[in-house]
Parts: sequence; C-alpha cells; structure tokens
Amino acid sequence: MHVTIMGTGYVGLVTGACLSDLGLTVTCVDIDRDKIRVLNEGRVPIFEPGLEELVRRNTQRARLQFSTDIRQAIRNSLALFVGVGTDAGADGLPDLTQVWSAADLIAESMDDYKVVVVKSTVPVGTAAKLSERIQRQLARPLEFDVVSNPEFLREGSAVEDFFHPNRIVIGSPSDRAAGIMKDIYRPLYLIETPFVFTNWECAELIKYAANAFLALKVSFINEMANLCDAVGPSADIHVIAHALGLDRRIGPKFLHPGPGFGGYCFPKDTRALSQIAKCYGLEFRTVDAAIAVNDRQFTRVVEKLRKGLGCFAGKTIAILGLSFKPNTDDVRESRSLLICQGLLAEQCSLRVFDPVAMDSARRVLDPGRVRYCSDAYEAVEGSEGVAVCTEWNEFRNLDLEKVKKLMRGNVLVDARNMYDASKARSIGFQYFGMGRG
Ligand code: UDX
Repeated sequence: MHVTIMGTGYVGLVTGACLSDLGLTVTCVDIDRDKIRVLNEGRVPIFEPGLEELVRRNTQRARLQFSTDIRQAIRNSLALFVGVGTDAGADGLPDLTQVWSAADLIAESMDDYKVVVVKSTVPVGTAAKLSERIQRQLARPLEFDVVSNPEFLREGSAVEDFFHPNRIVIGSPSDRAAGIMKDIYRPLYLIETPFVFTNWECAELIKYAANAFLALKVSFINEMANLCDAVGPSADIHVIAHALGLDRRIGPKFLHPGPGFGGYCFPKDTRALSQIAKCYGLEFRTVDAAIAVNDRQFTRVVEKLRKGLGCFAGKTIAILGLSFKPNTDDVRESRSLLICQGLLAEQCSLRVFDPVAMDSARRVLDPGRVRYCSDAYEAVEGSEGVAVCTEWNEFRNLDLEKVKKLMRGNVLVDARNMYDASKARSIGFQYFGMGRG
C-alpha cells in the first residue's frame, strides 16, 4: 500500500518512517524545500532516538522517500496522513491554516478514492469540517473518507511508542476507511495492541483528554510536593507517590514532582482544551487549575535557590539540563529556560549545560548573557549554586564530591529529585529537593 504523509515535522516524520518500517511504501511531503533536501541527504532534522537509523534503513530499501511534489504523491497513494503543524493561535486554539491548505491540495489533486487521515492535534469538529471542505472543492464527484487517528507519541521515545502503543484510536463513520486503517496497522494489531474504533468527535476529544489528564496528574503531584515542603522533613513526596501509585485506580505513572510540565504538547493542549470548553459555554475548571499550578511551579525552583543563596545579585548559578525532559533537544516551554530567564532578570551569572539541547537553547537564551559549557563539571565550576532541571541519565551519575569541590558555594537544588538527599548533605551540600522536606 502507498501512503503519503503531509508534513515532515515531528509527528509526520516519525509516523512516516515507522509506517515504512511496517512494510508500507511511504512518501513524506512538505512545502519546505530545505527540509526535504536535508532529508534526502540522509540527515534527520530532529533529535529522536532510533529515528535516523529507521530513516536510513527504509530509504535504502526504497520504502521511504521525501518529496516536494505533493500532487503526485497524493495521486499515488490510497491513504493521506495529515501531520502538518497546528501551533496555537492567539486565542489558544490551534491555528488550522495548514490543515485547510492540505485539504485544498488533496481536493485539487485526487483522482480516485482516498482515505484522509488526520494525525495533527485538532479541536473537536475539525474532521467533519475537513470532510465538508474537501467535498465542496472537488471538481468532479469522487469518493473519499476522513479518519481521525490521533498520535500519542512521546518525544524521546516516539519510535518505541509507535511500535508499542497503549492503543490506536480510529475515528470514522466509514467501515471501508476503518478497514483500510486496520490494514495499515495490521502488524500492531497482530501483537494485540488495543484498537478503539469510534467516530470523529470521540477520537478528537480522546487526544485532548489523555494529555490533559496526564497534565492534571503532574500538577496534582507537584502541589502535593509543595505541601510536603511546607510540612517539613518528615513528609516525603516519594513515599506518598509510591503508595498512591500502588492504587490500581490511580497508577504509578506521571506522579513524579518537578519544575512543572513543558514541551510542545501539554501546555498547548491543556490551553486548547480549556478554550474548546469555552466555545461550548463551559469552564474546564480542573484543567484550568492544572495550568495555573504549572504556570507557577518553576518559581519554586527559583525560590529554593534564593533560600540557599540569600540574594542573587552578583552570584553565579549553574543550570544542568535545558530541554523540557530528557532524550530530546526540544526546549519549547521548557521550565528550565523559564528558571534561567527568572534568574537572569535578577542579575545572576548563569553557566549552563545540556547533553543535546545547547543549540536549541542558544536560540532562546542570549549567549552574551549565558555561559554555555561543554559538560556538567565545567558548568558548576566557580558557581555558588546549582539547579538540576532535567533528569538526563548522565546527571544521575554525577560525581557529587567533584561537583562540590569545583563549586564556590554549596547550594544544590534537585528539581527532579534525582539524588539521595542524605548523601548530598553528607558531602556538604545545602540540598533542596521537591517535596522532600
Ligand atoms: C506528551 C504525551 O505523553 C504524548 O502522549 C502526546 O502525544 C504528546 O505529549 P511529551 O510532550 O513528549 O508527550 O512529554 P511527556 O513525556 O508526556 O512529558 C510532558 C511533561 O511532563 C515533561 O515536561 C515532563 O518533564 C513532565 N512530567 C512528566 C513530570 O513533570 N512528571 C511526570 O511524572 C511526568
């Protein structure tokens, strides 16, 4: 089967590469000629474990290609995956301009039956509008179906998530389209991945519900950690989260406290869900609360540094970890960058290090004001305080004695609770975790 993926961003590229690995013939198209040129040179523009290897293997086997000839790709394919960008517009709702352009191109170019698969995260009602739009624009009567097939890929483990998903959601009123989607995902069906066949609206809402619910969990545990901090040393969030997670109705995942959730999806999707509810005359109060808690959570890290250092003026602080989470170079909505910006506003000198997100960070944090270092030890050199903001594995194994010796001061803020508090204190650190008293 031939499929086209429209949009070679994060979702489109991972989906295209993985589908080609399942044996489909995939053409990834984009209007961005530079991106297609880079991909055709064998380079992958995003950092995602396993992706480069997947792209290399499948382009070599001619199952995966990249093109700017969108019309040709549409005509050659049975299924057209729409994975274009849906960044938030000024009102917090996704800007659907690129989705409509894709729909117009499909209507213009198709010459026989197509399944149009919406992968991009879009508000409820979009698949229905897309179907009407294509229908209106067809020059002659042609059959087609629209499917909502949201993605649940986590950055940093997107390839793994694609091949071992918790579920695949297929929303469509058409049995024919549902059958084709089942064919596309057949290898995953065979390993007993649960499939949810539903309508457009449920599929669209499932995506927002999943991300918003996980965001609720994170904000809940962060508030619980803040309460532990207030109660004092005897209240340990990890004991509480562990026992909480043993309740099968709650589950152990997404109960890790930290500086708040970041990245491209959670902040955008929670705001969008809140706005979608408003469009229907409702206030989504739990999600609004999760957003409000998250907006403030990073300031807890700044305040812990302040508690240790007294005042910030003239002090040097090291920040370890800049990406919004490990195994990605993505710094979008990264709490670490907000912490850096907060500290810079108070005239601190910053020394920073991240294993892969240095280039992305340089575009946001002025290299004139921040010292970008080549490893964690260089970053802590001469600093009065250090905050570990992203739980990269290489930070787990830091030689804390060496860190302490290299520093001028002794404040360690462990924003991801990675270190043994008593060990850190025995080395001489003023240790501050999140919700560990
Ligand atoms: C998320 C969803 O998990 C994925 O299904 C969806 O399709 C895209 O959005 P991603 O943005 O890659 O994926 O990040 P995720 O791993 O979910 O983490 C989101 C944020 O929550 C990160 O900033 C992370 O540090 C934070 N988080 C997560 C916590 O602070 N504590 C936790 O226990 C879990």
